[in-house]
Amino acid sequence: MAYSYCTNRRPQMYTLGKKLRFSLFGKSHAPCVGCILEGVPQGTPIDLDAMAAELALRRPSKGIGTDRVEKDLPRIVCGITDGKADGNPIIIEIDNGNVDDSKYLPFIETPRPGHADLPALLDLPKFDITGGGQFSGRLTAAIVAAGSIARKLLEAEGIQIGAFCRSIGDVEDTEDRGMTDARNSRKLPTRACTEELDSAMSECILAARKDADSVGGVVECIVTGLPIGFGGIWYEALDAELARAVFAIPACKGVEFGKGFGITRMRGSESNDAYRFDSDGKIVTKTNNMGGIVGGMADGAPVVFRAAFKPTPSIGAKQETVNLKTCQNAELEIKGRHDPCIAPRAVSVVEAVAALVLADQMERGL
Ligand SMILES: Cc1cc2nc3c(=O)[nH]c(=O)nc-3n(C[C@H](O)[C@H](O)[C@H](O)COP(=O)(O)O)c2cc1C
Repeated sequence: MAYSYCTNRRPQMYTLGKKLRFSLFGKSHAPCVGCILEGVPQGTPIDLDAMAAELALRRPSKGIGTDRVEKDLPRIVCGITDGKADGNPIIIEIDNGNVDDSKYLPFIETPRPGHADLPALLDLPKFDITGGGQFSGRLTAAIVAAGSIARKLLEAEGIQIGAFCRSIGDVEDTEDRGMTDARNSRKLPTRACTEELDSAMSECILAARKDADSVGGVVECIVTGLPIGFGGIWYEALDAELARAVFAIPACKGVEFGKGFGITRMRGSESNDAYRFDSDGKIVTKTNNMGGIVGGMADGAPVVFRAAFKPTPSIGAKQETVNLKTCQNAELEIKGRHDPCIAPRAVSVVEAVAALVLADQMERGL
């Protein structure tokens, strides 16, 4: 008996936020991916150059990335007139240059381990997985485009977001890092904070690529300028909403704030971030083990969280899988172009997601 495919799923868009509402659509091998951003106040200046710059950071870097050409030119369908939000929902489309899905056809019978193929095939109409379908990292281009608008709303209130690669494979950046380091990482292909780390991380990625394999990495994100009390509680908590949205990025397998799981090895006397008045009479914390959030709200320290990205599931090395047609065990060797490491490209996606969540909380008055 062959496995049967479900064909009755109702199409839907996937939406984040309540006042600043971001909805994602498209597939990697459809004509385009895109998004609808509702709730941007009328008259807000929209910087399309900044959007293009953010999209350029998400593109694969020569050498360490896939050689797939991603042009990522955003097309504003509506919502922006004369460089300002005009009060309509902002609709952005980004064309997919490569819509040849032939390399993906084998996965309909022999699903890729680590990718979404198996559960998707048994739940979605079968051609939806071509090119990764709705599960593809390609959709993150639309997240980055909308995130650039959210980022400007935050910057107008003095809130800055910066991220970088904390580790790739076993190469780890062990220094304390701040916003300037995150900004510097924008110049380096791996999004490491220094050139030395960038070389070591690149080497690690290239070694994996040589073996037809892939590696994972950790992206760290820093947010400054949030006033004490920004955020909410329970399901509106700043950490809860950030974690939910960051976990939705394809390939994310973990999110931790501040010292994260490491805090369990500390005593309370060590982990509590003591409060002091600084010379300007402002309340500050002496340490930042909580990652700038207590009770779901900002405590005045920079918000710091890390997201773990697994090794790219599509690898050239031979893997074990099953054949859904013959119901026999099978082997799979994946052809085609895939990033040997997702983390460097995920840095701008993490920043964008953080911007969308924070700008929505800001618009909700949390
Ligand atoms: C920016 C970005 C690029 C990605 N590129 C690839 C890729 O080239 N090949 C691949 O197999 N997965 C890639 N992924 C990951 C898959 O989309 C993801 O692993 C898959 O949808 C399964 O979801 P999960 O890993 O969250 O369980 C990428 C993810 C992101 C965020």
